Amino acid sequence: GDESDLVIRPPVVTVMGHVDHGKTKLLDALRNANVVDKEAGGITQHIGAYQVATEVDGNDRRITFIDTPGHEAFTAMRARGSKSSDIAVLVVAADDGVMPQTVEALNHAKAAGVPIVVAVNKIDKPDADPTKVRGQLTEYGLVPEEYGGDSMFVDVSAKSELNLDKLLEAIVLTADASLDLRANPTQDAQGLVIEAHLDKGRGPVATVLVQRGTLRVGDSIVAGPAHGRVRAMIDEHGDPIEQADPSRPAMVLGLSAVPGAGQNFIVVEDDRMARQIAEKREARERAANQARYRV
Ligand code: GTP
Ligand code: NA
Ligand code: MG
Repeated sequence: GDESDLVIRPPVVTVMGHVDHGKTKLLDALRNANVVDKEAGGITQHIGAYQVATEVDGNDRRITFIDTPGHEAFTAMRARGSKSSDIAVLVVAADDGVMPQTVEALNHAKAAGVPIVVAVNKIDKPDADPTKVRGQLTEYGLVPEEYGGDSMFVDVSAKSELNLDKLLEAIVLTADASLDLRANPTQDAQGLVIEAHLDKGRGPVATVLVQRGTLRVGDSIVAGPAHGRVRAMIDEHGDPIEQADPSRPAMVLGLSAVPGAGQNFIVVEDDRMARQIAEKREARERAANQARYRV
């Protein structure tokens, strides 16, 4: 692989903001889904990843979204989310304004060095005050373009599906203006575990984000201390897919164990090598733990 193998990949966009400001509802509206109503207590508790297809200036564009929880308990997930992304969308409810996790999210994005697009949500509400939100964020250094700054603000309503196209356009413009989004799809895949759990029927299930290369069914992978052959891959609609190219999130079945969120995955030559690497990693972790607890 050299320079000539590099092709444009979709931007990976982390959606962050205070609890209940409408991150999941916004993503539901963007991809015609309904995750919000299925969440326990209406609270997002893990990271979700989805790819959305759109058209900007007559060109087909794809954007990968990572949904993060806004509840204060999930700081680590927000930090991880912003690190694995190219752009952050900061969702601020126009009736509520800037709140503690708005500021926290904004600081994660700044620390990770990713550009921020502000989605001022819930502008359908009678007490919405999007001007106030602009003023508040200006105090944190996020100055709207219309005030002479360099941050794009878009007023939206996830509920009324207002200005969603403008938000997607702002994301694509930000990606094109400030980022080099190229990856080599021909090499062996590598990327990140976004979320993983044990499914009763299917065994360990990991949602991964492919960052380089193309992941295929049948590939031997190591993910954290887990290994295995990719038995099947499932996209965000629940449909089986044969391969996943750079920036694509996919659910992977076939791992020996449940890897940790935030751990890396790599494709290796064969099963045997996958097992060897996984065992070495496990032994290393065990040794580190023993050293930690030795008196
Ligand atoms: P956490 O993930 O738990 O932090 O919440 P969230 O930011 O994902 O918010 P969520 O999408 O769960 O929405 C919270 C509540 O606000 C739900 O009752 C939504 O229906 C409502 N909501 C979201 N967007 C809008 C909007 O644009 N207008 C109005 N009126 N309500 C909205
Ligand atoms: Na919520
Ligand atoms: Mg949510």
